[in-house]
Amino acid sequence: MAPDPTRTTPWWRDAVCYEIYVRSFADADGDGVGDLRGVTARLDYLESLNVDALWLTPFYTSPQADHGYDVADYRDVDPRFGTLADFDEMLAGAHARNLRVIVDLVPNHTSSAHPWFVAALADGPGSAARKRYLFRDGRGPDGVQPPNNWQSLFGGPAWTRVADGQWYLHLFDPEQPDLNWDDPDVGDEFESVLRFWLDRGVDGFRVDVAHGLFKESGLPDVEGMTAAGETLDDTMSQWDRPYWDQPGVHDVYRRWRQVLDSYPGDRMMIGEAWVGTPESMARYVRPDEMSQVFNFHWLSTPFSAPALRDVIAATYAAVGPVGASPTWVLSNHDVVRTVTHYGGGDLGLSRAKASMLAMLALPGAAYVYQGEELGLPQVEVAPEDRQDPTWLRGGGVGRDGCRIPLPWSGDAPPFGFSPETAEPVRTWLPQPAWFADYTVERQSRDPYSTLAFLRFALARRREVVPGLSHEFHMLDRGADVVAFRRDGVDGAPGVTCVVNCGTEDVPVGDLGTPLVLSAALAESTGHLLPNSAAWFQS
Ligand code: NOJ
Repeated sequence: MAPDPTRTTPWWRDAVCYEIYVRSFADADGDGVGDLRGVTARLDYLESLNVDALWLTPFYTSPQADHGYDVADYRDVDPRFGTLADFDEMLAGAHARNLRVIVDLVPNHTSSAHPWFVAALADGPGSAARKRYLFRDGRGPDGVQPPNNWQSLFGGPAWTRVADGQWYLHLFDPEQPDLNWDDPDVGDEFESVLRFWLDRGVDGFRVDVAHGLFKESGLPDVEGMTAAGETLDDTMSQWDRPYWDQPGVHDVYRRWRQVLDSYPGDRMMIGEAWVGTPESMARYVRPDEMSQVFNFHWLSTPFSAPALRDVIAATYAAVGPVGASPTWVLSNHDVVRTVTHYGGGDLGLSRAKASMLAMLALPGAAYVYQGEELGLPQVEVAPEDRQDPTWLRGGGVGRDGCRIPLPWSGDAPPFGFSPETAEPVRTWLPQPAWFADYTVERQSRDPYSTLAFLRFALARRREVVPGLSHEFHMLDRGADVVAFRRDGVDGAPGVTCVVNCGTEDVPVGDLGTPLVLSAALAESTGHLLPNSAAWFQS
């Protein structure tokens, strides 16, 4: 896409990016698994959402042990998802609609089917091939015990022993061996992978496990680590572990920044860095490093005004000093869907819409996960249907419930996700019958649907954001209310956003003309109802 010469801020700074979990978005070839041609076929829909960019989860060659986050060839498309030509067609179609495209980069680990790992096994201890991964001798007599007590985030030990007696580290599945980022081959290879996709025209990268690439030297035991009972969320939030947030990661992102900056058009990268404090998060977005880092603090926060005010304040306090702007996210393919997180049913949906409106009013960028526009709740997946390695390795119920193939149309599975065939296609995770109430087709006909709401909110956001200050100030409208205002610039009106997290109606008559409402104002008084939010222009 040609860079816009009149732009003074990079495109991604206040963009709304839609996450496509490729396996579950749309299936063009009828195998029950989403694919790149499925994305291409739905580009008009994506354009109609009024988002600015798409992030595609990994579609590279992969045995799919972790649904694509186990990459065997970083420069090719898995046949399940299509071909490089399909990718190019999708990218061209997106760019023709002014949609930027971000692809996923998985640098912490490869697949065990990656040629490097295959060579590491074949070449044996001490070989150059083995040094690209974290192989160690075991402890105890004959090295029968793992080199340390680390546990995999998916459950069980983080080490697997190979035939010659050495062990290799895998923070995730045994089929996802961790790379050794101290080996120069690794850095060179990833620079080349970046260039491969940049040359094809991608606008940026979402960097998987961006805080994990380096491990503390000596690989020390984790104090108090237990072998059982940890969930993925527990482990991800143990910030002080010797495999998270080591200083070496920042040199990698400085190098990548230089690569990105050598291409035209504000190419960017966003890090998935689950780090403990807003200050450590901010280190990833210093001017010569990442463009953005997901701010995950909101998605684990309850629908409470004091808690949300704290998240907002802490986020700006952290990113402000390094000159970055925040990146908001309520949901993704790893967490319980927002509607369910907020209590489920009508209550959960009202709160999810209100939270969405608040997130979209704040300065900065926002990420929306596929299905959020439909208000999809988490699906309870029967144990025998679950496919997430977290579940398969005993690390908890797993993430399948937020990854169900999208319902597009019709009254029965596969709800337009797969092509119509005499015998209905079975989707890779089964869709519940009640998805009939959530289809894109049905919601497109209903002006009061969640889909209509989000389309409308994003259209208004696109109109007003260019005229709004990047600053905002909080307003005091009561203990249970989150309220803030962004003033207009160059004579444009400002916008005030109010979220009612309490149980009483909140007067809002003095705030200006209602611009977007997550729920109608009270008919008699015009007050903002509990569990709803609104933008006012003045
Ligand atoms: C984070 C990804 O979002 C998740 O889906 C994956 O399992 C892990 N990283 C490991 O790559």
